[in-house]
Amino acid sequence: MSHQLVIVLDFGGQYNQLIARRVRECGVYCEVKSYATPLSKLKAMAPIGFIFTGGPNSVYGEGAPQVDPELFRLGIPVLGICYGCQLMAHMLGGRVVPAQSDTAREYGKTKTYYDTSCKLFCGLLEEGMSWMSHGDYMEQVPEGFVLAAHTDACPNAAIADEDRGFYGVQYHPEVNHSENGVAMIHNFLYRVCGAAGDWGMGDYKKTAIRQIREKVGAGRVLLALSGGVDSSVCAALLAEAIGDQLTCVFVDHGLMRKNEGDEVEAAFAKWTMNFVRVDAEIRFLLKLAGHSEPEHKRKIIGEEFIRVFEEEAKKIGRVDFLAQGTIYPDVIESGAGDAAVIKSHHNVGGLPDYVDFKEIIEPLRLLFKDEVRQLGRELGLPEYLVSRQPFPGPGLAIRVIGDLTKEKLDILREADAVYREELAAAGLSQSIDQYFAVLTNTRSVGVMGDGRTYDYTLALRAVTSSDFMTADWARIPYNVLDKISTRIVNEVPGINRIVYDITSKPPATIEWE
Ligand code: XMP
Repeated sequence: MSHQLVIVLDFGGQYNQLIARRVRECGVYCEVKSYATPLSKLKAMAPIGFIFTGGPNSVYGEGAPQVDPELFRLGIPVLGICYGCQLMAHMLGGRVVPAQSDTAREYGKTKTYYDTSCKLFCGLLEEGMSWMSHGDYMEQVPEGFVLAAHTDACPNAAIADEDRGFYGVQYHPEVNHSENGVAMIHNFLYRVCGAAGDWGMGDYKKTAIRQIREKVGAGRVLLALSGGVDSSVCAALLAEAIGDQLTCVFVDHGLMRKNEGDEVEAAFAKWTMNFVRVDAEIRFLLKLAGHSEPEHKRKIIGEEFIRVFEEEAKKIGRVDFLAQGTIYPDVIESGAGDAAVIKSHHNVGGLPDYVDFKEIIEPLRLLFKDEVRQLGRELGLPEYLVSRQPFPGPGLAIRVIGDLTKEKLDILREADAVYREELAAAGLSQSIDQYFAVLTNTRSVGVMGDGRTYDYTLALRAVTSSDFMTADWARIPYNVLDKISTRIVNEVPGINRIVYDITSKPPATIEWE
């Protein structure tokens, strides 16, 4: 079945995939295409609308990207965002100039007033914050256009030519900071382009499976499965597409939470792919013995992981493709440059050098985290895997502070399981973004029954965060903390004191190591 299509025409802005994601969120299929795609190709795709993205250029700058002017004569609606808006205004006879004063240049959250009689803003509140980021200014709008939104500094925050279905906004409706941004995009799609909402994650799944089959042919694919959301969904998608041409290697380093290894294995039982679970607990513990410095521990685990994976890959022999569960935020972050290394995050990014293969496939590359979860549900993965919180690659090794022993790991596993169970029972597991227990390296004196104890202090960590770059400590009600504390000291031998971590990030980090 073919779907209605919206083309997001890319002028090099930062948020292009976010625009695409907003369109998908509205139930409309879309593709991002370069502004340089020939018009004949774009026309042949028969889109119901175009969205021009922002971009770093100025319309009057040398070599500024343009579109074929014929595009405006196709009778297809256009929504221009930021540079896209200025370009449309410029090409249709308006005048765009560099903002003369700082007041006309706008960056950041800006109060915006909308004309709700315009189709774009129909049904929205008359004012709200929008996220501006533009240095140029539309001095004169093109013929046929009217002003449809303004800010205190800028009379033309949005322009509209309703007859032709052309709209332009100076701000970024796709970012979260823009209130009503998604509603506005929804209006463009449904009220202007006549979208029917004929697309969903089920369709994405089918398309992705078809593309994987075309690409892989009769080839063999290898995937390092960590049990996290991304690699699990990637594994399930590939398993559905190519069955036993896929081999998943699940390195069980013994640093997972209670029952987690078995849960991961069980989740994949229904597929015919080759599932290799490597029990490497002893190996990892031996390597880690005597090391207490967090960065050393991370490094040892990262290297050992690669060694184990490499050995397994050799047993399998030549593979044609190495699959990775890279998702869109990873793609952006890996281009982020040289920010200071706070912690050397371990994931499978370093593998390609060590394994003999022809090509990498990354079937989730254009998806955002919540879309990956949705796709996982479509594929029938269990909820405990799909809605799993972030879990660090080095696992519990960085949640047992200082040197590691199996005994300490077991104590932590039990305590962490009680903590998670109680937060779920209190209905808090959805509102807190990440929570876990930490076995501190501190022992203290306690009294149990009539006897003295000298046991470990357990720290409870729970944070709310949207991107895990910053985080606030979660305000868990005292009665819930009380229940957790009572249960853990009673049920988990080796722990006689519980503390709750009330630091945000920054200055602390989420994990303790
Ligand atoms: P921090 O402790 O740096 O953690 O505030 C931010 C987020 O990243 C997770 N984290 C890791 N994830 N490999 C990962 O894949 C790692 O080595 C790692 N270290 C921390 C952490 O759980 C939190 O969600």
